[in-house]
Amino acid sequence: MPWFLIYSILFLVNFDFEKGEKIVSKCRFLYDNSPTSVICGVTSRDQWSLDDFRGLMNDTKKFYLGDNQFTLDIECHGGGNISIRQPIKLPGMTSLTVRNCYITDYYDYDFSQEVLSIESVLQHLKFTSCKIEHRHSVRVKHIQKNFEKLLAYEKCQISNTLRNFIFQNSSFIDLERSSASNMPKEEEYYKNELKRHEKCAHNNLTYIEMSSLHRITAEVMFNDLLQNGIFNSLNVINLTNNDLALVPSSLFTDSMYETVDRLEQVDLSRNKIEDISFLFMPIMFNGRLNVDLTRNVITEISNQDMKKLKSFSRLGVNIRQNPLICTCNQKLLYELRR
Ligand SMILES: *[C@@H]1O[C@H](CO)[C@@H](O)[C@H](O)[C@H]1NC(C)=O
Ligand SMILES: *[C@@H]1O[C@H](CO)[C@@H](O)[C@H](O)[C@H]1NC(C)=O
Ligand SMILES: *[C@@H]1O[C@H](CO)[C@@H](O)[C@H](O)[C@H]1NC(C)=O
Ligand SMILES: *[C@@H]1O[C@H](CO)[C@@H](O)[C@H](O)[C@H]1NC(C)=O
Ligand SMILES: *[C@@H]1O[C@H](CO)[C@@H](O)[C@H](O)[C@H]1NC(C)=O
Repeated sequence: MPWFLIYSILFLVNFDFEKGEKIVSKCRFLYDNSPTSVICGVTSRDQWSLDDFRGLMNDTKKFYLGDNQFTLDIECHGGGNISIRQPIKLPGMTSLTVRNCYITDYYDYDFSQEVLSIESVLQHLKFTSCKIEHRHSVRVKHIQKNFEKLLAYEKCQISNTLRNFIFQNSSFIDLERSSASNMPKEEEYYKNELKRHEKCAHNNLTYIEMSSLHRITAEVMFNDLLQNGIFNSLNVINLTNNDLALVPSSLFTDSMYETVDRLEQVDLSRNKIEDISFLFMPIMFNGRLNVDLTRNVITEISNQDMKKLKSFSRLGVNIRQNPLICTCNQKLLYELRR
């Protein structure tokens, strides 16, 4: 890099050399942590975009980050507006947390060679209290322009390098509603191809949390992820606090057992589940499965059902804090929590 460029960057940004810390365009670089932690605060007056950040880090990465890995936290204040395009890729970024942001462009994919050639090392991805814009016409544009790339990307839904995926108290804002009737032929064809496409191997994903969401958002997101992938390491599925009256249709099905084999915990607490018959199925993998059903609306469990549950020796069920009216065999009930 020519010296004058370095100079102009030094000049433009606000430097603060206190205690292993630098501030570069709204982002604090904390070098005392390993990997380096980068925290960006975005207010409603700012324009922040992952593309710009990638550009800045590309020019100056060696300078700010060395060749090290880093974690990135973006926090918006007062309805800050940021642009993040998928696939989410920054060289060296192991973790991304986005908090309180209104995200534009999330579905305006960037399949440029530049981005595709970045090797992702992202392990933790978390969205909390965010709103994500979705425009149907943009999606159609990508189906037309980037059919194969979109297909391969959407089959995975999230990067297949992830260990933890958390989507919390967030929603999608549909700016142009699509209805099945005006779905162009191409889109229908795309949907069918997506179903047929080879499943995505999420070999390192151990934890999925989709919590405090609208019921339909939780169902659709979870089913899309589960039905399109293979999960060799998945330990925990956390669907707490989603207003669910029924468990998502892909959970506890035969096809789930074909693609998930290390599951240990399913957190369904704080929902509106009344009927527990979904538990009356054989567990088709080794080990033990714990299902948390605390704080739902289960009112009745017959003695027969309780005996049935108890007979599944590898199933643990927690049904505390439900409005159970059955006083018949409480002892048996609490024994379920072994
Ligand atoms: C990073 O910079 C190099 C040259 O400096 C360029 O070839 C490359 O396309 C840039 N990558 C990104 C992601 O901007
Ligand atoms: C967010 O960005 C969009 C498009 O750039 C703009 O129209 C909108 O007013 C912005 N919203 C806020 C809250 O800044
Ligand atoms: C959930 O997100 C909304 C913004 O979408 C926010 O106002 C609210 O405080 C969040 N709730 C919690 C419990 O974080
Ligand atoms: C999964 O984790 C292992 C061990 O950390 C790593 O070598 C491998 O590249 C990861 N796989 C993917 C797809 O990220
Ligand atoms: C599920 O997510 C909630 C909210 O983040 C958390 O409090 C709870 O501990 C999680 N449950 C499990 C089993 O990880």
